[in-house]
Amino acid sequence: MDVLVAGGTGFIGRALCRVLIDRGHGVTAVSRTPDADDLPGAVETVAADVTGPNLGSIVDGHDGVVNLVALPSHVQPRDRSHDAVHFEATRRLVAASERTGVERFVQLSGLGVESGIETAYFRAKRRSERVVRESDLEWVIYRPSVVFGDGCAFVPFVERMVPPLVTPLPGGGRMALQPIWVDDLAPMLADGLEADRHVGQCYEIGGPERLTLAETVTLIRGGGVVVPIPMSVAAVAAMLVDPVPWIPFGRDQYRVLTVDNTTADNDVTAFGVAPESLRTLSASLEGPEVSL
Ligand SMILES: NC(=O)c1ccc[n+]([C@@H]2O[C@H](COP(=O)([O-])OP(=O)(O)OC[C@H]3O[C@@H](n4cnc5c(N)ncnc54)[C@H](OP(=O)(O)O)[C@@H]3O)[C@@H](O)[C@H]2O)c1
Repeated sequence: MDVLVAGGTGFIGRALCRVLIDRGHGVTAVSRTPDADDLPGAVETVAADVTGPNLGSIVDGHDGVVNLVALPSHVQPRDRSHDAVHFEATRRLVAASERTGVERFVQLSGLGVESGIETAYFRAKRRSERVVRESDLEWVIYRPSVVFGDGCAFVPFVERMVPPLVTPLPGGGRMALQPIWVDDLAPMLADGLEADRHVGQCYEIGGPERLTLAETVTLIRGGGVVVPIPMSVAAVAAMLVDPVPWIPFGRDQYRVLTVDNTTADNDVTAFGVAPESLRTLSASLEGPEVSL
């Protein structure tokens, strides 16, 4: 099939484009500033802002659309809001897909959108999911936990922000994550385009390990001691620094730390995958295996 990958030059997009090309699909990657260097030669690139009008001519001629457009969730948005990027991109891509006869629409949401935590990112993702569900398209929604792998933003962010020896973390970093490797996730996204049994499904996707934030940070830093900051102190700090655009911590980031980002039932099994067969973060970092 011919697939348009919006955000196809991003971290998850590049991995997905590789899988789609390997499986014999035609692939067009769209982003504002596409750089074909990290993509297989067979991928066509198109430069466009998918939050703007006139997407019809870009979407036309494709059988499937995958929406991977992102405003990174771990940074404080500066000039653009999560709604303006995530929701607008989804609304316009869905409308253009309906108009031009696209059949399958794959939407990347995020684990935790229905956790009861109110952040601008989760709100925009929930609104986006609604547009997709209410469309005439054959849709599949994925809600992954944090995704790691070559070119991810998460590991370098931790390396940059966290001091090497002593790591102060709100609540001691007790909230849990379920990191999934990008090259384990990408084939599942491709399956969503290809197999009819996935239509109308919303999948919560996680990796094989449930790691606390403290364990995750310690793994990435290769050691160090975690010093707990009381949650009440972190809440006040988050409120105070919230308006400062260059500090990557604020009220939304604090809220995310109050609840686990893990699956109830890991839906990787819907793709014939056993969770324990997936790559661990520790293996990816080539560090020692973590025993939990
Ligand atoms: N990475 C994770 O841990 C994770 C976890 C859960 C869910 N997700 C979701 O998975 C999806 C992909 O994430 P990712 O980590 O691959 O993001 P990413 O690396 O930041 O890639 C985002 C892509 O979107 C493009 N883009 C951004 N704004 C655009 C616009 N207005 N018009 C056209 N293209 C635009 C970017 O290219 P340009 O900047 O050149 O436009 C880039 O290709 C997102 O929906 C994200 O919320 C990611």
